[in-house]
Amino acid sequence: MGKEIIRLVETDITALAVDAIVNAANNSLLGGGGVDGAIHRAAGPGLLAECRTLHGCPTGGAKITKGYNLPARFVIHTVGPIWQGGNHDEAQLLRSCYHNTFALVEAQHITTIAFPAISTGAYGYPAMEAACIAVRETLAAAERITFLQQVIFVCFNIGTRRAYEEALQ
Ligand code: APR
Repeated sequence: MGKEIIRLVETDITALAVDAIVNAANNSLLGGGGVDGAIHRAAGPGLLAECRTLHGCPTGGAKITKGYNLPARFVIHTVGPIWQGGNHDEAQLLRSCYHNTFALVEAQHITTIAFPAISTGAYGYPAMEAACIAVRETLAAAERITFLQQVIFVCFNIGTRRAYEEALQ
């Protein structure tokens, strides 16, 4: 198990008919802009209603909901760190996002999952460093979650695509 389960795609994550898509959320879990806004718009009001019952999520944490009007069965909401220069545990917190997301993947027997580039938009995390963490954590998860079939990294812009391509070298 290794890199062969990873795919890079340039599309809107809300269009992907996978078991789960990952949302780059904020601590309130009550929606926002970027991919968070897109997922809530596509999923419809049922998603926000369920999120209200979760009472937020700590940075580095991950919580799962149904997908509602999305083609994906589940949404895994994770809260990435806001980049503050790299000396505020940002790398450890971003690793936790992927680690805690894959813990839910294992628990729910999810076989196909799509990630946006967590924290690299509004939260300002450098794309290259974030992509390396995403790839490393995914390869580690693929070693232990033997039923994992596909991990899609969604590249919503060229900078993200280049970062993942380099991280996969
Ligand atoms: N599909 C896939 N990727 C997307 C989409 C989409 N529809 N929209 C944006 N992206 C990409 C961005 O281009 C970026 O590469 O998702 C990545 C993460 O960017 P943000 O959505 O800004 O997420 P983040 O940097 O983690 O900031 C989270 O922004 O939207 C608010 O509520 C959210 O407060 C939270 C913060």
